[in-house]
Amino acid sequence: MPPIVPIFVHSEAMSSIGFGIDVGGSGVKGARVDLESGEFASERIKILTPQPATPEAVAEVVAQIVEQAQWEGPVGITVPGIVRDQVVESAANIDSSWIGTNAQELFSRHLDGREVTVLNDADAAGLAEITYGIPEASRGPVIFLTLGTGIGSAILIDGHLYPNSELGHLEVDGKEAERRASSAVKERKDLSYKQWAQRVDKVLHTYEELFSPSLFIVGGGISRKSEKWIPLLTCRTKVVPARLLNTAGIVGAAMISQQDSAS
Ligand code: BGC
Repeated sequence: MPPIVPIFVHSEAMSSIGFGIDVGGSGVKGARVDLESGEFASERIKILTPQPATPEAVAEVVAQIVEQAQWEGPVGITVPGIVRDQVVESAANIDSSWIGTNAQELFSRHLDGREVTVLNDADAAGLAEITYGIPEASRGPVIFLTLGTGIGSAILIDGHLYPNSELGHLEVDGKEAERRASSAVKERKDLSYKQWAQRVDKVLHTYEELFSPSLFIVGGGISRKSEKWIPLLTCRTKVVPARLLNTAGIVGAAMISQQDSAS
């Protein structure tokens, strides 16, 4: 069973500034993060994701960001795939050569051997959201979702993360949830908010039946327009928009750079 990542507690022994990098399909983004407030402590640096986004090419971009930021300490990095014991085990929306890559070893090699911790992107964003965005969500079973190119998920129980839940790949009526209801599908099929909300609703009903969470938090760019679709959802579980929006991945990455118990 994968380890459950404990709730993030900022202790005196930790540095109050961390550095996080979020590796996404279109951009690799990094910033210093104030771990007391969860806010950026420097400008965000963004470099376009190299194509093909092979491990070596992405690691070079990561090294450029760290160098540009003149950051010397440990680094937390997110990737959009399963990360177990720091090895990437899936690659639904990234280059398939990531599968089997020891990401910690890869990034550390490109960063002069410094300390690196790697976590799934949605897991990192979920941790950041319940720590700094919606602290009420640090109690009970909560499902955090990011609706973007795919659907990323984080299952959080009393503030502890059960990593690599990958609910976007759960089949809902014979089709993977992320192929039915990601925001990329809305764009590709030119769906109205009403049409798309019906798809999201079906997915949430399935998650609700399986997990009975006390809350769903929905993130990703589309949660900025949450008033257009959250009110159309019919599941019994309360659904709230994420508050950190596009900073969550970087903030979560900076958090795990200070914890050595991540998966
Ligand atoms: C991947 C997840 C990732 C999500 C969001 C999915 O396709 O399997 O690991 O969290 O996309 O990037």
